[in-house]
Amino acid sequence: MPRTIGRKVIRYATVTSTNDLARRRAEDGEAEGLVICAEEQTAGRGRFGRSWVAPPHASLQLSVLLRPPLPPVAAPSIMQMTALATAAALRETIQSAGTTFPPQIDLKWPNDVLLNNRKCAGILVETAVEDETLAFVVLGIGINVNHSMRDFPQLAGFATTIADELGHTVDRDALQAGLLTRLDEYYGELLAGKQGREAIFEEWRARLVMLGNPVRINTPNGIEDGIAVDVEADGALLFRRRDELVRFYSGDVTLLKWPEGGRLS
Ligand code: BTN
Repeated sequence: MPRTIGRKVIRYATVTSTNDLARRRAEDGEAEGLVICAEEQTAGRGRFGRSWVAPPHASLQLSVLLRPPLPPVAAPSIMQMTALATAAALRETIQSAGTTFPPQIDLKWPNDVLLNNRKCAGILVETAVEDETLAFVVLGIGINVNHSMRDFPQLAGFATTIADELGHTVDRDALQAGLLTRLDEYYGELLAGKQGREAIFEEWRARLVMLGNPVRINTPNGIEDGIAVDVEADGALLFRRRDELVRFYSGDVTLLKWPEGGRLS
């Protein structure tokens, strides 16, 4: 089957944000599968309007344009498959480096990929909706590869790079090729129907850290402590706050220690 994702790859030295360029191409009618990658972003962005920072020629920063014939409620599956594909590509790169003590790779709700409990990759999914279907989706993926968080002390506590975990650099081109291949496979599964989407959800759920544990959730509406009970197929985090169960659809979670007496108030 001819591949969709990566059928056309455009590389730039410097852009504002690869997501901006992919969006512009989408608005101009570009077919799905286009990948825009850049060695440097001057206005790379993450969720909640945060900036995404990486030194030139060291990380992977790319955006993929998709036009899935699906309703907007399918957007969480797209985010889930992107996290899975990113984790799979990281795993393959690390395996091929032949590391004696390979780092632990996990997913963190809603869309981070962790190496040894620190963020190594982030995903920003942006959508455009027309007539109740997804007109297009831009998947923005940033992976910290060959730089060191020692140069970013403000991030070092919670972020890491592949090179920091392995102690040496890896082949970024091979990582990108692996990522696009895995994305293409998961996208095929996602488009195969409900069963494919359910399989993606179950795989994503099985790889999530923190479920069943006390966490702090930080959202634009404030900070709360509670238990990350489970996730649902629509991407919601089921969160136990005192004696009620609530759903969050976005936010950042960090693990908390169980308090003395074993109860979060
Ligand atoms: C996050 O963790 O908040 C998401 C980070 C997403 C960063 C990537 S880098 C490539 C693409 N272009 C952007 O401006 N952002 C995404």
